[in-house]
Amino acid sequence: MTKNKANEKIVANSTAEYFAKNLQQVGFSSPIKAVLTTVKEAMDNALDACEEHGILPNIRVDIKKLGLGSLKNTDRISIKVLDNGPGIEEKYVPMVFGQYLASSKFGQGRPSRGQQGIGISAATTWALQTSAIGAKVTTKRENERKALRCVVVTDLKKNEGILKDKEKINWENPHGTEVEFIIDGKIQMNGEGGLLTYLRGTILLNPHMTLTYHLTEMEPVTVERVIDEVPEIPKATPPHPHTMKLGEFLSYARLFSSHKNAEWLCKGFSRVSPNIAATLFKNSGLPKTLLDKKVNTLTSDQLKKLFQTIQDSEFQAPSTKSVMSLGEKALSLSVMRLGKVDYFSVVTRKPAICDFKPVQVEVAIARLFEKKSDGEDSSVQILRFANRVPLQFDKASCAIVKSISSVNWKSYSIKQTKGNLPSGPYIIAVSVVSPFLKFKNASKETIDATDELVTEIRKALMKAGQSLSRHIKKEAKTQELENKIKHIEKFGPVLVNTLCRILGASEAKKKKAEEGIEKILGRDNLKTRQQLDEVEERLNVHLASRKDQFDSFIKEDEELQARQEALLRAEEEILGTRYNDDETSSKKEFSRKKKSSKKNKSRL
Ligand SMILES: Nc1ncnc2c1ncn2[C@@H]1O[C@H](COP(=O)(O)OP(=O)(O)OP(=O)(O)O)[C@@H](O)[C@H]1O
Ligand SMILES: [Mg+2]
Repeated sequence: MTKNKANEKIVANSTAEYFAKNLQQVGFSSPIKAVLTTVKEAMDNALDACEEHGILPNIRVDIKKLGLGSLKNTDRISIKVLDNGPGIEEKYVPMVFGQYLASSKFGQGRPSRGQQGIGISAATTWALQTSAIGAKVTTKRENERKALRCVVVTDLKKNEGILKDKEKINWENPHGTEVEFIIDGKIQMNGEGGLLTYLRGTILLNPHMTLTYHLTEMEPVTVERVIDEVPEIPKATPPHPHTMKLGEFLSYARLFSSHKNAEWLCKGFSRVSPNIAATLFKNSGLPKTLLDKKVNTLTSDQLKKLFQTIQDSEFQAPSTKSVMSLGEKALSLSVMRLGKVDYFSVVTRKPAICDFKPVQVEVAIARLFEKKSDGEDSSVQILRFANRVPLQFDKASCAIVKSISSVNWKSYSIKQTKGNLPSGPYIIAVSVVSPFLKFKNASKETIDATDELVTEIRKALMKAGQSLSRHIKKEAKTQELENKIKHIEKFGPVLVNTLCRILGASEAKKKKAEEGIEKILGRDNLKTRQQLDEVEERLNVHLASRKDQFDSFIKEDEELQARQEALLRAEEEILGTRYNDDETSSKKEFSRKKKSSKKNKSRL
């Protein structure tokens, strides 16, 4: 038995096989998550593709229940996402939808939504596992006459995508991609795993997107874009030397194995010049000549020494040019698309460096009008974003939630029990953008809560909290004053009456005193305003009646004009006939005269 075990064959799994067995790690751990992750991966890709090509995205999401699913307690669901992006070249279609780790964004150091080249292939695998139908793709590029329609499946052993049922079709869209997955899942609209929660988040952080969504039995909804500029994705930056752990440093070296050492250090890291590279080698006790040798000539011991020297050296702080923000204006416009927002405050922080990585934090706090009364005691709604992608699960240990709970919201007039999330009819949206964002898990749901990042987010939250608090305090003061005025208003006339009676004052004096009180309470303005409103209303009624009158005048006028024109035409016709008659008779006379003069001439 032991012998057998020792002789067991060791086989290497392909990447695709690994992910197919561990789909739960990339967002397919429950039927609800499966639906959400599929929509999310397709929409992230659509938005990235449009953005990279400077296209204002028009995205359509259709989700339909087709019947019962093959797994217990699931439905068979069709998820279709259509974009107006650049389309995909035929040779890349099987790679995009059927091959793992095939990406145009991998490790590029830009804050795109996608990073790893796993997302959409995982959705295809889930579809294949649960409905045995691959990804149905239709795609067309601008210069192509016909669109490609096909089904993509994955060969797990080889980690390869395979095209099936390929055809060329006429498509109404000039360019773009549509992908449909038929999967087992469960639809949830609201709450943590809610589709609407996800869509609201995506709408908020993409003010340049027009989105149409048709979710099961609901009526289709279209949310129009509020800005017409495609956000510019900043240029890529290599990582700062202080951002890597030893293991990461060693794998990074492997990526550059065929490059010279000096080249790797200067091109692979930011803030490393040829001089700095030489100093690093010197301080690590490595011969200078190795700088011109290839990375794969370094032993692991030498690499470890180099890593240690890097840790002990000072470098210029990383550049913050590789982050991006929506800006307070765009965020403000987008907040209004979240529903009836009663008041909001937005804050865009300047790019900062946290853990040697450039980071940009933006915060929007919106107070919802419709929930003002019933939402007082429930927790605020939190919208978390990492590189503009909404995060919906595993919120407890996320840097954003930790930051929100650590702020003392009571000092901003918002209810909160110590250390917990605040409560009330608010939405608190926090967006963190960084080309090197660290997540706690492969499904990218939780941002690693380092102290520096939490502090940076807290600063943004506190600034937004301050302006919200100023507004709430102003509201409270106005309300307090109004209550006082109402009180005096109630008892003022009683006082005037009694005093007038005691003093035996005349009716005129009593009236004057009443008017005086009104003036003190500022109600005379109110009265004047009311009177003005009344006058305006009367004026409007009057104008409306005048307009009716005016309309009838115009109608009459038009009728008269039409009648006059008809008369003129008739007159012209009569005159025209006469003129024609006259003309014919004079012509006859002229030719007669001409003939007789000819006769006379010949006689002469
Ligand atoms: N709708 C689309 N239009 C154009 N190109 C697309 C579209 N969807 C995917 N792609 C291309 O396919 C690649 C693979 O997509 P995939 O979602 O698997 O990975 P990713 O987006 O790069 O990273 P992640 O795994 O983090 O989502 C993308 O990098 C992109 O180049
Ligand atoms: Mg993706």
